[in-house]
Amino acid sequence: MTGKFYGIGVGPGDPGLLTLRAADLLKTAAVICIPRSAADNESTALKAAGAFIGESAAIIEVPTPMTRDKDVLEAEWRRGAEKIAAHLAAGCNVAFITIGDAMLFSTYTYLLKHVRALLPAVEVESVPGVTSFAAAAAHLNLPLAEGPEKLAVVPAVDDPEALRPLLAAFDSIVLMKVAGKYDAIVALLAELGLRDKAVYVSRLGYPDQFVTRDLDSLVGKKRDYLSLILVKKGGL
Ligand SMILES: C[S@@+](CC[C@H](N)C(=O)[O-])C[C@H]1O[C@@H](n2cnc3c(N)ncnc32)[C@H](O)[C@@H]1O
Repeated sequence: MTGKFYGIGVGPGDPGLLTLRAADLLKTAAVICIPRSAADNESTALKAAGAFIGESAAIIEVPTPMTRDKDVLEAEWRRGAEKIAAHLAAGCNVAFITIGDAMLFSTYTYLLKHVRALLPAVEVESVPGVTSFAAAAAHLNLPLAEGPEKLAVVPAVDDPEALRPLLAAFDSIVLMKVAGKYDAIVALLAELGLRDKAVYVSRLGYPDQFVTRDLDSLVGKKRDYLSLILVKKGGL
């Protein structure tokens, strides 16, 4: 019988934020599949979930290239899906672990399409996790939205100018993946009078977690990939 494929959101970093469902599945999955970027010494998802993984589980890695080249990414996802499908076809349950929530900007959803193309009848369960921005808001005791307030969640990887209408239209804006365009984002926030209504959160839940409201202090410096900015027009 074909194994079952699980996509497990393991939360933003703190193992205490992993769900009970995730912990149960990690204990028993025969194969744990982890995303691994070239920049990581150890998968960040594994850091969050490692303590819950059963001792006999086999660990397989799926590289996640830091590129936006669709052909390179598709080829890597296809290769990863082939590895996963081989274990599923052999009757093993495979759990792919992913930071935050499984359905938000995760390699899991791309892999899932390829796994389903290879094994159309495979049983799948996606397990939600605490998103990075929910954990950041909780860490700051900052409501993301109240009453009629509108909330936007945006990957800030393209020209920051594209953020202008969103920053005008929404009351709270979560800017994810801010490391690359950080300086231009901070300049735009300053121009719009929002720099003092923003907070930068990096590596939340890891030992080197860093949070600051002084966004200027990081201009021109190296920022970690695991970083986001929360903008709250009503004030922080
Ligand atoms: C590929 S997305 C993954 C999102 C994830 N699935 C979630 O639910 O939050 C990566 C982005 O999520 C944010 N992120 C994830 N973990 C984080 C953390 N521990 N601290 C701060 N930001 C984090 C950063 O903006 C990072 O660039």
